[in-house]
Amino acid sequence: MTLYRGTFVDCPDDPFAGGTLRTLDGALLVTDGAIAARGTFADLAAAHPDDAVVDLRGGLVIPGMVDTHVHYPQVRVIGALGLPLLDWLDQRALPEEGRLAEAAYARVIAREFLGSLVRAGTTSALVFGAHFAPAMDEFFGEAATTGLRIAAGLVVSDRLLPEPLLTTPDRAVAESVQLAQRWHGVGRLRYAVTPRFSFSCSDSLLAACAEARAQVPGALFTSHVNENDAEIARVLADFGTHYVGSYDRHGLLDHLSVLAHNVHPRDDELALLAVRGTTIAHCPCSNSALGSGLFPLRRHLDAGVRVSLGSDVGGGVSFSLLREGLQAAFVQHLQGAAGVRMGAAHLLWLVTTAGARALGLDAVGHFGVGMQFDAAWLNPEPDATLDIALRHAADDADAVAKAFALGDVGDVRGVWAGGDRVR
Ligand code: GUN
Ligand code: ZN
Repeated sequence: MTLYRGTFVDCPDDPFAGGTLRTLDGALLVTDGAIAARGTFADLAAAHPDDAVVDLRGGLVIPGMVDTHVHYPQVRVIGALGLPLLDWLDQRALPEEGRLAEAAYARVIAREFLGSLVRAGTTSALVFGAHFAPAMDEFFGEAATTGLRIAAGLVVSDRLLPEPLLTTPDRAVAESVQLAQRWHGVGRLRYAVTPRFSFSCSDSLLAACAEARAQVPGALFTSHVNENDAEIARVLADFGTHYVGSYDRHGLLDHLSVLAHNVHPRDDELALLAVRGTTIAHCPCSNSALGSGLFPLRRHLDAGVRVSLGSDVGGGVSFSLLREGLQAAFVQHLQGAAGVRMGAAHLLWLVTTAGARALGLDAVGHFGVGMQFDAAWLNPEPDATLDIALRHAADDADAVAKAFALGDVGDVRGVWAGGDRVR
């Protein structure tokens, strides 16, 4: 058993429905990776005098963050600014994704990607994979060594992309199921069936995705939806249904499905997403970088659609979910009366418990008794602006807001997943 001592801040209940921040200036007792008790340090230390103490005083300890949309092959293309989605894919993302045909290159990228993820304080992620099965074996092999909670899968497409990235429905099923048999349920890994987007998929390929998923109990489903006007127009023309419907008609949407973006939804699509329990991964930095639009959070909340956050690296510009939270708040504020005013509790909720729920990780997201000890210790350099700001915070909510405003990956001093130190 281990006692972790520090200032722990979390948000266990949905602040869009009245939940608030919770702070414990004290200690957590962790047994076999799970939180067994919370209390003052004096009480817990007296009750457990022989247990090791890990001193995390200084800064804040927040739950390990959950990135619900991030692309493994795109770590090196971050920062291509000023291009809309389809041009960015053609000119920047897809040429790089083609290089992952070579397994040795994919292994290097997997290491760079996973290292970046954990440095940012992310302990769980739904990762958009590569188009090549050997590249996914490399990825899962590396991910298994990290201790992170990773769901990922082979990305499949059979039209409108460069030829080397394309597959067929039969091959998509065979390769996806083989990968899932090797990696789904190994340690903290799970499989996610992953058509790139309906734009690059035939209806037969989406049917094949449903066939693959039916063979992997507990597999997640992920893709993109309603991100960009040009992309949406093509999907509507080709599928004769709305964008959400292109997935839903194959039974691909449920509570273990996560669709990225949804910047331009119709009301009937929102109603359907709510009924299915599907989560939208909102990626505000990517939406800004690719000029995709302003996310209509109010309409999602009013319709009862679940929302989490994603970095969408490399359309997004960093692995920091603190930065995503800040940008999400800005994007809402800029919409005036149509936006949702968000404070510290909303942002912390979105990057922790909301994300964990989206991925079906019931024992992850906050520091309640019985939960896994997944944590990120934010402890800036002495006299860094964040350090000054935290020392002068008016209250806990102000401290967390300052962490979102000023925090970055360099402020993440330590990271734990299931009680294991992963950084
Ligand atoms: N839609 C299809 N592929 C992608 C991608 O790689 N990034 C983003 N942002 N949207 C996509
Ligand atoms: Zn994406």
